[in-house]
Amino acid sequence: MGGADLVIVSNRGPLSFSLDDGEQLVARRGAGGLVSSLSPLVAGTDTIWIAAAMGEHDRAAAERGLMEIEGFRLQSLALDPDRYRMAYDVVSNATLWFLHHGLFDLARRPRLDRRWLDAWTAYQQVNTAFADAVVETAPEGATVLVQDYHLALVGAGLARRRPDLRAVHFTHTPFSDPSGIRILPSTVAEELLAGMAAHVSCGFHAPRWAQAFEACCAEVLGSVPPTFVAPLGPDAEDLGRVVSSEESDRWGGWLTSLLGDRQMVLRVDRVELSKNVLRGFLAFDELLAAHPDLRERVTFVALVYASRQGLPEYLAYRTEVEHLANQVNHRWATPGWTPIVLDITDNYPRSVAALRRYDVLLVNPLRDGLNLVAKEGPIVNTNDGLLALSREAGAWAELSEAALEVNPFDVAGTADVLATALTMSSAERAERSAAIREVAGRRSPRDWLDDQLAAAES
Ligand code: G6P
Repeated sequence: MGGADLVIVSNRGPLSFSLDDGEQLVARRGAGGLVSSLSPLVAGTDTIWIAAAMGEHDRAAAERGLMEIEGFRLQSLALDPDRYRMAYDVVSNATLWFLHHGLFDLARRPRLDRRWLDAWTAYQQVNTAFADAVVETAPEGATVLVQDYHLALVGAGLARRRPDLRAVHFTHTPFSDPSGIRILPSTVAEELLAGMAAHVSCGFHAPRWAQAFEACCAEVLGSVPPTFVAPLGPDAEDLGRVVSSEESDRWGGWLTSLLGDRQMVLRVDRVELSKNVLRGFLAFDELLAAHPDLRERVTFVALVYASRQGLPEYLAYRTEVEHLANQVNHRWATPGWTPIVLDITDNYPRSVAALRRYDVLLVNPLRDGLNLVAKEGPIVNTNDGLLALSREAGAWAELSEAALEVNPFDVAGTADVLATALTMSSAERAERSAAIREVAGRRSPRDWLDDQLAAAES
């Protein structure tokens, strides 16, 4: 697996570029779960990875053409920056992401006006540029793995121009149901679904999202294309390396001095509307109000990192998150205790150190394609930690037998779940925690990749 006959196509690539002190381009590992899961599997192989140059320095690196760098064969696409921004910000993130996660405030958004239609044209252009790159670089008969909602139309271009290729599409988000897809202009909905359907098969992390996609296709296209379900698993080896790193160890010390003998509720997320950070804090507030005995006995550690700062909705959300954490702290803090410790910086070793020792991991998204943290937490935790998991996360389909169920909209119910978890007997905790660890570790990134390769052959 992973070789000259494999091409990966994704918006965000395995490396991002910046300048070092001597103004030389240096590569760093790219952000995001997709990249960290796939990178170890394809590094050192002949697999070609085609991705967008997202920043200024990525664009400079892209001028080198197909790069052999850090074990990758990377083709970075420098697209017209304004057109790329329109496609990424307006269509991919402000429309398709919102649609699939049910995030629209429908009285106000979306506004599918002339500017939006222009952005849709940009989205088509970006997809065409990706398809062109695949047409030019893919070896005869290669398997092409197209990732995510940014690139729904790539398969349509390939089917016409390179029928020798076998292209699979994999969606990492949830998928809208037919009533959601009806928000899009009819021609756009048709083109989007037909673009995905032009692949050999379309993959999803959970049966729910595959069924929603099928239902949309049945309604809009009048036919149902092949689909498959392939949940991603955590990368135990990579996590193990981070766990045993000096840096993560240092952060473990930081946590010990922060917490003392208090219990820890933890969340690790992007600052992302669908992650439901606000209701998590509100639930914690209700927990402290209803359980005076828990005050000063538990700290909510929220390790989140900024995301998609080009979108006003995300900037506003971040401000709300900070404001609410301050409010809750203002209400309950005592001289020696800060109820919510919120940190908005991207620090992976620190997140892993926290995952090692949480008492309760709160994963309460409104909707989520999978949520890898819900699997990573249990496999590294050494504190008989419990998982409080949203039933709207794709991972719920696999983890429901051992996780505590959260309805992400039900703040009072979430507070009750936290109370149950924090007061559970140690014997029951140990049992549940062992069960969740076992289920969370059943699949690996390789299983997920193998499923895509198998789907390409189907
Ligand atoms: C989700 C998407 C990925 C995306 C990631 C980070 O996991 O499925 O495609 O890369 O979020 O979002 P960003 O917009 O920063 O790439």
